[in-house]
Amino acid sequence: MVSPSPTAREEFVSSLENLFTISPDDIKAIVQDFHGEMRRGLSGHQSSLKMIPSFVDRPRGDEKGTFIALDLGGTNFRVLAVVLDGKGNESVPAVSTYAIPEKEMKGTGTELFDFIARCIDSFLTENAIDRKNVYNLAFTFSFPVAQTGIAAGTLIVWTKGFTATGVEGEDVVALLNDALRRRNICCINVTALANDTVGTLAARSYGDPTCDMGVILGTGTNGCYREKISNIPKLKGHDPDEYMIVNMEWGNFDKLRRTRYDKQVDESSLNPGAMFLEKMVSGMYLGELARLIIMDLIERGLLFLNESTAAGNFGEKDSLKTQYMSLIAGDATADLGETATFLNNKGITNTALRDRILLKRFCQIVSARSARLGAAAISAVVTWMDPGLNERHTVAVDGSLFEKYPGFEDEMKKVFKELFGGSAGRITLAHSKDGSGKGAAIIAAAAASKK
Ligand code: GLC
Repeated sequence: MVSPSPTAREEFVSSLENLFTISPDDIKAIVQDFHGEMRRGLSGHQSSLKMIPSFVDRPRGDEKGTFIALDLGGTNFRVLAVVLDGKGNESVPAVSTYAIPEKEMKGTGTELFDFIARCIDSFLTENAIDRKNVYNLAFTFSFPVAQTGIAAGTLIVWTKGFTATGVEGEDVVALLNDALRRRNICCINVTALANDTVGTLAARSYGDPTCDMGVILGTGTNGCYREKISNIPKLKGHDPDEYMIVNMEWGNFDKLRRTRYDKQVDESSLNPGAMFLEKMVSGMYLGELARLIIMDLIERGLLFLNESTAAGNFGEKDSLKTQYMSLIAGDATADLGETATFLNNKGITNTALRDRILLKRFCQIVSARSARLGAAAISAVVTWMDPGLNERHTVAVDGSLFEKYPGFEDEMKKVFKELFGGSAGRITLAHSKDGSGKGAAIIAAAAASKK
């Protein structure tokens, strides 16, 4: 049995730890850079933050009605019926989830939107919804969209592995309407288009007036917040004293110190050169990041040396899903037995305990950096709105990483303490489960009541 030299191993591990550490000073610098990019983005100057006006403010809480909501933006597509009671409460009497086939994500736009129309058709049938009535539909479309009105906007660029052709530069509501027409669905009137962050903010603030930020930490990552219109110089023709939610598209923030592994993830992605923050933070990329580190260790002869099968199938891109990192990070068994089972399934058998401990440590190094960067982005936005942190700020957060990754939220809170000390308690992270679909319905209701 060969053993890697403990010193070589330790040296390498601590060099990696240094590489991935985000110190409080790093966070302060990121916050400053965020402010600069926010300012430039709001003025319409070149910036990695698009700062997209959403054409809506947070809801009043008295919006009412029954809506159909669509949620497109991750691995699944969802159709929901949402009922708003006009008193800040919502219910979801029906929801259907459809896995988006690879060929629709990466084929033509027509195929993708036909798939969406097909799902809506079966949702209407499954729930015996009377097609003689007309239903207002809210469309949560979680990609960078240059919004031109409440129910109109063009896709700027695909993110998160979508590449369907003929959609970038097009109005996605028009594409949806065309697909509904092709399928003879006449009972639907698309009345709102919203990013998932904006939906999440709207859903939480429907019953909570302290909520002024929406954040997604899931397959992708992004944030939105309430901005005074006088601070959005690029937006013309609106009352400067009113407020509007701004979709920041912070996944594209690029003033970051990237490691060689981050560069590898970027280069092998479908959108190289873009979305640097997202690729360091979100669930779509964390597993791959950890896998590249593990492969590096294996190749340097520092991990799994007892193995005849060496890397198992770890050599394949994306073979370590972030959800398994979650499992490893949460493995509380004394011998890390759950991790051993996972590795066995990957073809890496008979691992030594110290190797499994190391694996767990890497998952933690990668996920802690993600959580700290997420918290840095939130800190930047909160201090932009309220530099002295004088008010309470509720941040509506959704996404599998935030919800399911062990210790993720705690690591974020640690950053708020480091930066703000006793005032950290003024920032509340509120898990707003499935907020985006409900929130889009609230936006649709607000739009309908304005008419
Ligand atoms: C990606 C999208 C963004 C979305 C985020 C979370 O960053 O570009 O629009 O909000 O993922 O789903």
